[in-house]
Amino acid sequence: MTIEQLKAKFIEKYGEGEISGYFSPGRVNLIGEHTDYNGGFVFPCALSFGIYCLIRTTDRKTVRFASLDMSFETEVKLENLNIAIGKEWVNYPIGVFAQFMKKGLNFDKGADLLFYGDVPTGAGLSSSAALEVVTAVVINDIYGFGIDRVELAKMGQKAEHEFALVNCGIMDQFVSAMGKKDHAVFLNCDTLAYDLVPVKLDGVKIVISNTNSPHKLDSGKYNERVAECHAAVKAIQPFQQIYALGEISWDDFLKVEDKIENETVRGRARHVVSEIKRTEDAVKALRAGDLIQFGKLMNDSHDSLRDDYEVTGFELDTMVEEGRKIDGVIGTRMTGGGFGGCTVSLVKTEAIDTFIEQVGKNYVQKTGLKPLFYVAEIGDGGKKLF
Ligand code: GLA
Repeated sequence: MTIEQLKAKFIEKYGEGEISGYFSPGRVNLIGEHTDYNGGFVFPCALSFGIYCLIRTTDRKTVRFASLDMSFETEVKLENLNIAIGKEWVNYPIGVFAQFMKKGLNFDKGADLLFYGDVPTGAGLSSSAALEVVTAVVINDIYGFGIDRVELAKMGQKAEHEFALVNCGIMDQFVSAMGKKDHAVFLNCDTLAYDLVPVKLDGVKIVISNTNSPHKLDSGKYNERVAECHAAVKAIQPFQQIYALGEISWDDFLKVEDKIENETVRGRARHVVSEIKRTEDAVKALRAGDLIQFGKLMNDSHDSLRDDYEVTGFELDTMVEEGRKIDGVIGTRMTGGGFGGCTVSLVKTEAIDTFIEQVGKNYVQKTGLKPLFYVAEIGDGGKKLF
């Protein structure tokens, strides 16, 4: 859909007049999975696809919400922009409006909003964070609140906690707000200090493989992992004073690992602490131009998510196993929350066609599902388009 087509759809729905347009991207995480809510490192990049939001302010005392992807539409009074509506998609943008209200900020005029997404939903590429961040950027701009980008990302995360009931970390909203074309964001999720690292992949591309098995990132499994990490911290505390798994080094962890009696909890902690180290090592490798080492760490990351964190599942594991059989695949792993969704692979340019054909064929054979492949382009974080 082009911008002109989007504008035409807006006019069809809301009539003629001035329109502004905004965009925020989905993301793919290169490495650093399930570390963000433990105060660890992540290394995601913003994608060139995401969520668009067109807006016009009005004299009415309401906000109208519509989407080209979802049939549900609604009109909400300004004073009710902090009340969830059933289980509808509008709870993501409403959840963001609510965060502004919580800060005591009031909306002095109404608005008409039209959303459109070209990021696959439920694929673990953060369509929900893109929706939250684009809403935060729009509101901040249109009502002139002057809140900084990092705070907007945090407000998106809060919306997810309170309106989608997923106790997510900050990674997705942060990269959707702060990403930069051709860069990955090396983020310390404890301090929110970050570096934009150029992703220069000579002769190699980032390929995203969508298992088309909807990632079941329901609050249940995800929140269970969050709770298990808290349990690990508790078990370690008598031996080392930490408040989050991100505070313990891999070497120190090895000294206290066997003090965590519950085997499942021990495995969860092992994944998190080792993944944080892998992420630091991977960024060093990328900076040094050592893609082979980067790819090896991606592979190790997947295996740890499969064996210790148990968030992969048959489809993701099959996609990864089939990918590893292809010559020219440097590294491949699941990306995002897991339980379905996508894998991310570094593939030599000349091997991409074979990769898509062979992995595609074998994946269909083994799972009965039809996968989708995207050669990723790294785009910018949320911005005004017009
Ligand atoms: C989801 C969450 C993120 C992060 C990833 C796993 O995408 O929204 O905060 O925890 O899972 O790395």
